[in-house]
Order: sequence, then C-alpha cells, then structure tokens
Amino acid sequence: MLIFPEHGFGADKALGEIRYNKSCVNCHGPAGKGVASYPKISGNEVSYTTTKLKAYREGVKQGPNSALMIMMAKPLTDEEIENLAAYLEDAKYEVE
Ligand code: HEC
Repeated sequence: MLIFPEHGFGADKALGEIRYNKSCVNCHGPAGKGVASYPKISGNEVSYTTTKLKAYREGVKQGPNSALMIMMAKPLTDEEIENLAAYLEDAKYEVE
C-alpha cells in the first residue's frame, strides 16, 4: 500500500486550485479574494468551507444569493470539496 504523506489529510491543494480556476474564479475572483457582491472565500478554515459547500450541495439556502451556489455545488464530489477547502484555506492573492 502506498502512502503520500505530503497530501496531509488526503486533500490535494494543487487539484483544488485547478478545480477552483475552472469553476469558481469567474465569480469569486483570483485565489478566492472576492469580487463585488461575490464573497471572499479564502482564509477560512477547511471545516468552515467544507460545511458550507456540502450544505449548498444539499440545496440548503444560506444567504440571499444561495441559488447560484447551490447550482455550482451540486456536481462537486466529497473529494473535490476537500481539495477546494484545502486550497482556499491559505490561498493568497498578490498584486504584482
Ligand atoms: C455564479 C457565480 C458563482 C460561482 C461560479 C461560484 N460561486 Fe461561490 N458564491 C456565490 C455567491 C453569490 C455566494 C453567496 C451565496 C449566498 O447568498 O448564500 C457564494 C458563496 C460561497 C461560499 C460561502 C461563503 C461564506 O462564507 O458564506 C463558498 C465557500 C463558495 N461560494 C465557494 C465556491 C466554490 C468552491 C466555487 C467553485 C466550485 C464557487 N463558489 C463558485 C457565487 C458563485
């Protein structure tokens, strides 16, 4: 059996970043920094982000614009949610 200790609790930040840039960046901005009415989603603990995403996936409304997020969260697997949360926990947006 192979063990990959660099993956911590099984979450893969690199995969999370790829997934983020595919499906989330258009609304939440680079590295989850937030854009206009789309909330900042980086810098939160993994447990916070996973709880939010799983609730949206189940169709639970949380804020006034949950319909958008429910639609976005529906196709996510548990693994993708873990990876996204791991990436977003310390994703940073640097202005060059
Ligand atoms: C179409 C625009 C859009 C896309 C694409 C989108 N989001 Fe969101 N997201 C929102 C909006 C709007 C909210 C606030 C929803 C509400 O009012 O409940 C939100 C809320 C969230 C929250 C909760 C923030 C908080 O602290 O309450 C998380 C976490 C989140 N999004 C993650 C993601 C991830 C991960 C993806 C990619 C899989 C993604 N979002 C894609 C628009 C979007």
